Amino acid sequence: MASADLQQLARDHLWMHFTRMGGFGEGRDVPIIVKGDGCYLWDSNGKRYLDALAGLFSVNIGYGYGEEIGQAALEQMRELPFYTNWSYAHPKAIELAAELASLAPGGLNRVFFVSGGSEAVESAWKLARQYYVARGEKQVRHALAEPETRHDSIVAAGRGPHRYKAIARHIAYHGTTMGALSINGIPSLRAAFEPLVPEVRHVHNTNRYHRPTAETEQEFTRFLLDDLEQAILAMGPETVCLVHMEPVQNAGGCFTPPAGYWPGVRAICDTYDILLSADEVITGFGRLGHWFGSERYDIRPDLVTCAKGLSSSYGPIGAVIATDRVMEPFLDSTSMYSHGVTFGGHPVMCAIALKNIEIMKRERIVEHVRDTEDVFRAKLETLLDLPIVGDVRGTGFFYAVELVKDRDTRTTFDDDECESLLRGYLSPALFDAGLICRQDDRGDPVVQISPPLVAGEAELDEIVGILGDVLGEAARRML
Ligand SMILES: Cc1ncc(COP(=O)(O)O)c(C=O)c1O
Repeated sequence: MASADLQQLARDHLWMHFTRMGGFGEGRDVPIIVKGDGCYLWDSNGKRYLDALAGLFSVNIGYGYGEEIGQAALEQMRELPFYTNWSYAHPKAIELAAELASLAPGGLNRVFFVSGGSEAVESAWKLARQYYVARGEKQVRHALAEPETRHDSIVAAGRGPHRYKAIARHIAYHGTTMGALSINGIPSLRAAFEPLVPEVRHVHNTNRYHRPTAETEQEFTRFLLDDLEQAILAMGPETVCLVHMEPVQNAGGCFTPPAGYWPGVRAICDTYDILLSADEVITGFGRLGHWFGSERYDIRPDLVTCAKGLSSSYGPIGAVIATDRVMEPFLDSTSMYSHGVTFGGHPVMCAIALKNIEIMKRERIVEHVRDTEDVFRAKLETLLDLPIVGDVRGTGFFYAVELVKDRDTRTTFDDDECESLLRGYLSPALFDAGLICRQDDRGDPVVQISPPLVAGEAELDEIVGILGDVLGEAARRML
């Protein structure tokens, strides 16, 4: 179809996600991407872009494996285009579950498939809620020595209040369905949909850039852990079922954990018998130079949520991976996790994810991230020469550049300035320069850089070169 026709149809019929639809019209086209290869995309006018965001932090193997993955999908289509995981199984779901269990760190052996990241988060919270019910029922059953499974009997047996509350971190993004949105720590995303699912509290994230400069890393860790523990105590520890956090928080700009943070979080969860869930929707499948970020930081989660990189986004699939301990009460003959979605573990999506993992292993993509991350970081740190760049942070192939008005005082831009800096200048300028990355002010203003994991030095140089030019001009305009 001709480019102009596509434009018109897009304006008339397509409702784009998180998009100011009124912004398209006179003089402003819908960007229509028609082709991809490696780290590059082409639009309907033939213009090429370097995709420094890997789609949405998700096309980990880049855009060049369509033939090979398409072949795997075709073979599965021929064999069995669909069957459900509700009471039945099929080979690809079984093989993928076993593969994920082998890649995930210790004890994470049980895989529940869904269609994407929000559903994974939603499912993790529901699983955590039901885990305590199932565990309590089992205890009550043993105590009563009868096969009764009703919740009333637990309450009657004096087991106490049901655990249903969750804890997440400020500014963290965890998806958009009602449960996942409730876990979200971004007030502007939540506001229109209140009241949300009870009951979530948000604790401090690991943004160190705006902490007092004299504070040591150890003091920062202590501060964060005290904050978490205080939140649990204030909520009533016996009512909290889940602590849900990313290994490195994306929204706000790649907040890495300070030393001692994850062991401390794990210990607090153990003390209060709360499940720890690592949201690896972005950090899973190589982004941090490991199959899972939990491995990199030795998080030892009870649950892992993943999606995006699981299939490199060649197909919509996500998963919750649970430890043997979490699975245990559900292994009773009368017990089940009362949850399911039609497309969870769709055979074609499982075939795609299996092929994606096979390619990642064959091409040593995770090793490539580990081998290249220091070089990448050093290149990005050259941007610190620009007066508008306050901080470069992140790890693996996952970075953010924070923009500031005054580097000495770390003063950030106000809302109007952010609007003109990010949406007025940076967004169109980077697009014109052929670089796709994200300008984000859900926290302080940052540019997020998260390229396909197959990016080599040439692409990394191109990213930093374009960013340098565009941010240099931004500094001239804004400072
Ligand atoms: C950490 C995290 N969790 C959950 C989600 C939701 O994933 P999805 O958009 O596939 O629903 C995202 C999406 O960006 C994410 O970054």
